[in-house]
Amino acid sequence: MADATTAAAPVAGDGAATNPLRVGLASDRITNPCSAVFFGASGDLFKRMLLPAIYTMRLRGTLPADFALVGFARTPFDDDGFRDYCRQQLEQFLPADRKPQGALWDDFARRISYITADFKNTAHFSQLKDRLAKNDEEFGTAGNHLFYLATPPSVFPVVIEHLNKSGLDKNDKGWTRVVVEKPFGTDLESARSLQRVIESVFSESSIYRIDHYLGKEPVQDIIALRFANTIFEPIWNRNYVANVQITSAESLGVEERGAYYDHAGALRDMIQNHVINLLALVAMEAPISADADAVRSEKYKVLSAIAPPTHADVWQMSARGQYGAGTIDGHPVKGYRQEPDVAPDSNTETYAAARLYVENWRWAGVPFYLRSGKRLPRKLAEIAVTFKPIPHRFYGESTDQIEPNVLVIKIDPDEGISMRFEAKVPGPKEHIRSVYMDFSYGSGFGVQSPPAYERLIGDAIQGDQTLFTRWDSVERAWEIVTPILEVWQNTKDFSFPNYAAGSEGPESAVKLFHDWRRL
Ligand code: BG6
Repeated sequence: MADATTAAAPVAGDGAATNPLRVGLASDRITNPCSAVFFGASGDLFKRMLLPAIYTMRLRGTLPADFALVGFARTPFDDDGFRDYCRQQLEQFLPADRKPQGALWDDFARRISYITADFKNTAHFSQLKDRLAKNDEEFGTAGNHLFYLATPPSVFPVVIEHLNKSGLDKNDKGWTRVVVEKPFGTDLESARSLQRVIESVFSESSIYRIDHYLGKEPVQDIIALRFANTIFEPIWNRNYVANVQITSAESLGVEERGAYYDHAGALRDMIQNHVINLLALVAMEAPISADADAVRSEKYKVLSAIAPPTHADVWQMSARGQYGAGTIDGHPVKGYRQEPDVAPDSNTETYAAARLYVENWRWAGVPFYLRSGKRLPRKLAEIAVTFKPIPHRFYGESTDQIEPNVLVIKIDPDEGISMRFEAKVPGPKEHIRSVYMDFSYGSGFGVQSPPAYERLIGDAIQGDQTLFTRWDSVERAWEIVTPILEVWQNTKDFSFPNYAAGSEGPESAVKLFHDWRRL
């Protein structure tokens, strides 16, 4: 039962209470009680993303009232020590207006416990089993268990095997769900073998593969834009669309993640998951309902229509780059090969671009350009749908200056939708210029979008798989990128580093497509 200590406190910037566009909407409160177990709770992801998301859910009043959190990781802590650790991390990673304090924090803290564990030790999983039973009694968590794998991927199979050995995969009291972080495998074969381990223990309906891009508000809104309106669908096809560009650019470098990144690269790290998921949402057919599997089946269907490039086509269909030293925001930054834990002769790409075709009735012949890179001039995630030019020379020679219409779905850092169209400049002459219609979520709804992890953790607790990637699509995404991965891996690029930090990317990307939108 909710009591005074679990009631919602206002979250600054939320604006929900005063927003007329929210009037009449059902409460966002999740009513599903549960214990959430975080494997790898002493790691980076937990402290930076997961814990702040959960505590903010508590502040917003969306977390179930009957909730408990169990940390399970190697770093030694007792329960109180871990509570202190959590409090320190929240102090560091949440804004000043959401600090852990007062009755709300005290209530949250007493629901936290910790098991210092070796992931290979069955006894520690038995300890976990006892803890979960205790949580049911103390906190009314009703036998529902959310197992969140926030460990390095190499540990995923070990945890799954031990959940099975200790009988934690079976549950006759409530539900059991397992949330798997990315990367799901490092190539097609390793993804398949991880899937074999997971599916030998859990059914697909209990597996929640996270791709945090799917939890970003503007990404969720792609479905609403397309299927809650009638004006876009008739033109959303090869008859009207010239090309689609999907960009996820970052100005950050690899930070402290050199050891991971040097074995991954941009194609594995971003394109295989985040960017291909965006492609699926923008190109799929209308699902028959908003039901999770109806949506995910359409995503899979459209990915199946993408022909992976042949090995021979890879160089014409893709471009790769690696950043050298340069300047970001006026500050000099080092090159990728000088970053910590990166090989001094690394062949790993920090920029990847590809041209793919969706070979179906709707999209035949329309190129989809994908790109992602680090140390580019700025952070930018967006999908731009560029429409075909006007069909005849209505303005004589000036017709050449008329730009095509572009609809941009802005994902990060701006969140909104913008439409470029042409308008006459006021005055006696027929001067035509591009103008924009802009919608921004912040000013439109007066609410700050909740971070992706809040939405995704909430959905996993609710049992809604819509925003989690189904195995068939993960496998298909690996199939699409595999030829590129193989050719790139087997060919040393002697031009690396081939773009300066802070530039728009390598020359080869311009050869692939001369009309990239400016970063
Ligand atoms: C992660 C990648 O999945 O996404 C990182 O591993 C990348 O390399 C990050 O920086 C980008 O996420 P966002 O939400 O900042 O665009």
